[in-house]
Amino acid sequence: STPAHALATALAEHAHKEGSLLPILHSIQDQLGYIPNEIILPLSQAIHRSRAEIHGVISFYAHFRTQPPAALHLALCRAEACQARGANALIAHAQERLGCDFHQRSQTHDVHLEPAYCLGLCAQGPAAMLNEQPVAHVTPHHIDEWLNQVGE
Ligand code: FES
Repeated sequence: STPAHALATALAEHAHKEGSLLPILHSIQDQLGYIPNEIILPLSQAIHRSRAEIHGVISFYAHFRTQPPAALHLALCRAEACQARGANALIAHAQERLGCDFHQRSQTHDVHLEPAYCLGLCAQGPAAMLNEQPVAHVTPHHIDEWLNQVGE
């Protein structure tokens, strides 16, 4: 879907309703994965709200993204059982390769890094979530392979 198409779909669904701004923004993000800046002006004209107001709503809700999501969303478990199985070294390896901390997006790879607090795989740690898929027995080698997939 293109931004223009996503906006048209969202407007067709919600524009006629009272308090349509939030459902419209949700619909656009659901369709595109983020809310592109280019839809703000046509949206403001369509629903007669100021651009400042729309930007304000987008930045108020942490849920809304203004950039496309990273190709790889990597969450590494840092809870106790995984720590006992070497999670800290794994985390250090990932952060060094990505050049970023938790809650950040790497500048060198299309990866967003998050901490996780127990993924229910304690006996098979260190554990990770890779784009919503749980992975057990994670090694630095796995991390290198995942990063190679999304390139430098
Ligand atoms: Fe990591 Fe439970 S502590 S999965």
